Amino acid sequence: MTISNHPGSESPSDAIKFILDGEVHAVRDLDPSTTVLNYLREELRRTGTKEGCAEGDCGACTVVVGELDDDRVRFRAINSCIQFVPTLDGKELFTVESLRAPDGGLHPVQEAMVECHGSQCGFCTPGFVMSMFALYKSEESPTRQRINDMLAGNLCRCTGYRPIISAAERMYESADEGDRVWLARPWSSRADAEASAGEREMVARLRTIERPGTLSYIGPSPWGGFRTFFAPRSVSELAALRQGHPDAYLLAGGTDVGLWVTKLHRDLDSIIYTGNVEELKRLELSDTHIEVGAAVTVTDAYELIGEHYPDMGEMYRRFASPPIRNAATIGGNVANGSPIGDSMPGLIALGSSLVLRRGEESRELPLDEFYLAYQKNALEEGEFVERVRIPVATPDRRFGMYKITKRFDQDISCVCGAYSLKLDGDNRARDVRVCYGGMAAIPKRATQCEQTLDGQPWSEETLALAMEALDRDFTPIRDMRASVEYRRLITRNLLRRFFLETSGFAGETRVIEHGGS
Ligand SMILES: Cc1cc2nc3c(=O)[nH]c(=O)nc-3n(C[C@H](O)[C@H](O)[C@H](O)COP(=O)(O)OP(=O)(O)OC[C@H]3O[C@@H](n4cnc5c(N)ncnc54)[C@H](O)[C@@H]3O)c2cc1C
Ligand code: FES
Ligand code: FES
Repeated sequence: MTISNHPGSESPSDAIKFILDGEVHAVRDLDPSTTVLNYLREELRRTGTKEGCAEGDCGACTVVVGELDDDRVRFRAINSCIQFVPTLDGKELFTVESLRAPDGGLHPVQEAMVECHGSQCGFCTPGFVMSMFALYKSEESPTRQRINDMLAGNLCRCTGYRPIISAAERMYESADEGDRVWLARPWSSRADAEASAGEREMVARLRTIERPGTLSYIGPSPWGGFRTFFAPRSVSELAALRQGHPDAYLLAGGTDVGLWVTKLHRDLDSIIYTGNVEELKRLELSDTHIEVGAAVTVTDAYELIGEHYPDMGEMYRRFASPPIRNAATIGGNVANGSPIGDSMPGLIALGSSLVLRRGEESRELPLDEFYLAYQKNALEEGEFVERVRIPVATPDRRFGMYKITKRFDQDISCVCGAYSLKLDGDNRARDVRVCYGGMAAIPKRATQCEQTLDGQPWSEETLALAMEALDRDFTPIRDMRASVEYRRLITRNLLRRFFLETSGFAGETRVIEHGGS
């Protein structure tokens, strides 16, 4: 559809279309790097959604998106402060105002908040209500621990959390059966549940705005001229756009890129969004590998990875917050390549590789060869990450992964250590891979330590030598998260912990509760 022609642009723009309050909402002539939060508050004057931090940390801006997943709908809480408006194309948006019943009545979530005294000054309340609404729509009877986890991305400075958590337990009491979608666990048990009438209506609504091909949106830049936003549907379209627009920024979940705009005030004049590319959203299991498309969210990816490697699943609970994990992708985490990113140490220790794509050609590269220097990776011009390949677990492999932070929830690693080895019949360590985040400018293997362990008995004596070797592997940095001495000590101690857990001294079971790893 031709909406507008911006001076200097050769082609007409599509409109961004999403559903709001049951109606199709078409957006034109808007800077494509406008955040959903700013759009809601400044353009639509829906001021229920609040701004606290503008960087995904506080949850005051939480909204919910509903999107098609085959013939079902998934509801996800996200942080509207770091999502750009064109990413809503093809989705349904729910804000706190959307929960109002036609007769003005409260939603069961809101009713429960009132009954449990879950609000004082009210600033955080819309965000909490929307996180609870996403839970209400998606899960039938979450445990208290699950509720805690799902609200970990919402901060309240005055009410305290107990009444809010009680409200999340209470909200189901007045629930209308037909209103819920009953996706107990979206990945594995979707087929067990029938779609409700409400869900079927929503599927039909979303189908009316389903886009067969690329969204090509052109909007004004605040500095004059125009900006472009492309959202391809297939990997071939993405590959062609990537080659045709080498200066465009790739955008996936936006949990890093969003902050470039809200905090660093960078101008992103051209963006290519990977979040609608079907092939990149695939998560597949073969006999040998877990294949994770680059646009699979951290939520979905770690649910499956955690079934094979429980330590990765445990780490996932501590990766940011649910709204961040619902948007953040594995491809974005890996491509961003932060030295303190959480996926890389584990993936590298497991011997994972990346499938990189340029045009119609693909190549496979071991993940540990991808990082060249701080914020420099092996991607060539026009190339992008298509998927991550993770070897499946085998009975002889031992794997451990530990994230060390100052706070249990919502904190960035000061050190993250991951360990993988096989024990042969003589209890000798084979195929040893040790990788740390937070110890160098890139996620880095501890090669001296690996060599010390490889082929040696898995014993206290070998462990002592391997711990010494770690000092030769790294020259740690000092920053606000930890001192050099602390990093050295914790790196050694995590290796020791892995030894104790895999040599029978610490038993098999390890439950990490609040208070840190
Ligand atoms: C509040 C908050 C908490 C966080 N906590 C954590 C945490 O605990 N652990 C952690 O590891 N990270 C954390 N992060 C960082 C961030 O969430 C992750 O790095 C995330 O995985 C990035 O993924 P994304 O899809 O949002 O990437 P985006 O922000 O969309 O992109 C990140 C980078 O990857 C590039 N890119 C994206 N997809 C591709 C592709 N397919 N091919 C090539 N390049 C690509 C982009 O161009 C960009 O340079 C946090 C962020 C926030 C805001
Ligand atoms: S405003 Fe704090 S998470 Fe968005
Ligand atoms: S009620 Fe005041 S911040 Fe939560």
